[in-house]
Amino acid sequence: MSKKVILITGASRGVGHATARYLAGQKKQVLATARSQLLLEELKATDPRRIDYVACDLLDTASLQKIIDYIRDQNVEISALIHNAGGLVNKPFRQLTDQDWTAMWEMNVLSAVRLLRALLPFFAKKAHIVTIGSMGGFQGSSKYPGLSAYSTSKGALSIWSECMAAELKNDGISVNCLCLGAVQTEMFSAAFPGMKAPVKPDDMAQFIGDFALSGHQFMNGKVLPVALGDP
Ligand SMILES: NC(=O)c1ccc[n+]([C@@H]2O[C@H](COP(=O)([O-])OP(=O)(O)OC[C@H]3O[C@@H](n4cnc5c(N)ncnc54)[C@H](OP(=O)(O)O)[C@@H]3O)[C@@H](O)[C@H]2O)c1
Repeated sequence: MSKKVILITGASRGVGHATARYLAGQKKQVLATARSQLLLEELKATDPRRIDYVACDLLDTASLQKIIDYIRDQNVEISALIHNAGGLVNKPFRQLTDQDWTAMWEMNVLSAVRLLRALLPFFAKKAHIVTIGSMGGFQGSSKYPGLSAYSTSKGALSIWSECMAAELKNDGISVNCLCLGAVQTEMFSAAFPGMKAPVKPDDMAQFIGDFALSGHQFMNGKVLPVALGDP
């Protein structure tokens, strides 16, 4: 019988790292991924029985294959995918180049598309896909200078999540998007230098982990704001 795992992208630091540790603490098997092998090895060392990892660059299709190879070799099924990996470009609109826009689109939208396309054959029945969006990409939220390319890409990720919920409903797979507010991580410091976020990664990890485990019993195709305030 195949073993069930929760796959978490962007698990080498920040929110993804904390979510991997939280879910392992809930006695779930976690498959963590990110580019940094060293940081993933340190993550695995915190709970070697429950956490395993595949180092992979989500922007590189050949590298993506490493996740598929692992899933096949270990005969695992994905009970939940938390697509948390993301990138940030913080630049005033006047300075943003086509390269910056493409980088945001590639990292925050296309990487999710490619990953899901590759993983589709390996989902368990009643699996839950949780994409990690941003309040910056939530329609009607406050917007901030310098974050137009980032926020636009996160907005696209949330709409794509709604589309996937409609497409995958008949396969028994649910898809929801959590639009995070400020969490104290490296990315937050790069987006809002000098500011302090009201939420710590461990606290957000508990919410995301619990939502990944049970949120799909109550909702599908939802884009949810998860924020205390602005930003
Ligand atoms: N922190 C906030 O306030 C906040 C607010 C709203 C939304 N979010 C969203 O929450 C998610 C987590 O954010 P965070 O603050 O924890 O960010 P973070 O500390 O910058 O972590 C980002 C993660 O993504 C991974 N990653 C980046 N590029 C990658 C690539 N090409 N291939 C594979 N993995 C890659 C990084 O690992 P490697 O560098 O090792 O690859 C890292 O583990 C992101 O999607 C972010 O947009 C965060």
